[in-house]
Amino acid sequence: MKNILSPSILAADFNVLGEQIKAVKEGGCEYLHVDVMDGMFVPSISFGMPVMESVRKQSDLFFDTHLMIEDPDRYVEEFARCGADGITFHLEAARGSAADVIKHIKNTKSLKGETLRAGISIKPGTPLEEVLPFAADVDMILVMTVEPGFGGQKLIPETLDKVRQLREYLTREGLDTDIEIDGGVTKENIMEICNAGANIIVAGSAVFKGDVLQNTRDFLQMIGG
Ligand code: DX5
Ligand code: ZN
Repeated sequence: MKNILSPSILAADFNVLGEQIKAVKEGGCEYLHVDVMDGMFVPSISFGMPVMESVRKQSDLFFDTHLMIEDPDRYVEEFARCGADGITFHLEAARGSAADVIKHIKNTKSLKGETLRAGISIKPGTPLEEVLPFAADVDMILVMTVEPGFGGQKLIPETLDKVRQLREYLTREGLDTDIEIDGGVTKENIMEICNAGANIIVAGSAVFKGDVLQNTRDFLQMIGG
């Protein structure tokens, strides 16, 4: 399974966002993580459609869209129209059936004309068992390694046990579902995270603080992505 780095622009310098995105691409990245927060599901508000739409015009990276919003079903088409390639929503935020949200995402096309990749996410306090019924239907499960809402937090070590259990479960079931983790990634802990079974690694501060190009290259060299 290929390891992928997904740099989160939440930690970028928005004065030079375009240049920083070019740097992650030049460093070898294929993904860009876009954190959308509504001030309801999480305390903070980040950015939304206009920012993504603008960035899309300058970038062909895979937009890995992380919706930290209540009732995510409402915004599937809008984010697709603005450039999302994949949409991940929170199990805890879905009103009604999460299975319907997954179907909605998978029935929607990206601007590139491809089917959106569907992801489902759980917060650190949500038991793994709650997401397992959806494992065969999604392309990716995002195990949050911090409480969603802010960048720059420390990874909660117990969440890696969840990642290990999830990878064991997927292997047992014969599923090649991606496991993404998000929050608190550093150059010091990334190998432990990959060894636990995650293959899509979100990193915000650790990529965008300092030399973005060098950080990207360092991470990709470590994970072999
Ligand atoms: C947190 C966001 C993360 C965040 C990660 O709610 O979902 O994507 O940007 O930031 P770092 O890597 O700084 O912990
Ligand atoms: Zn995120």
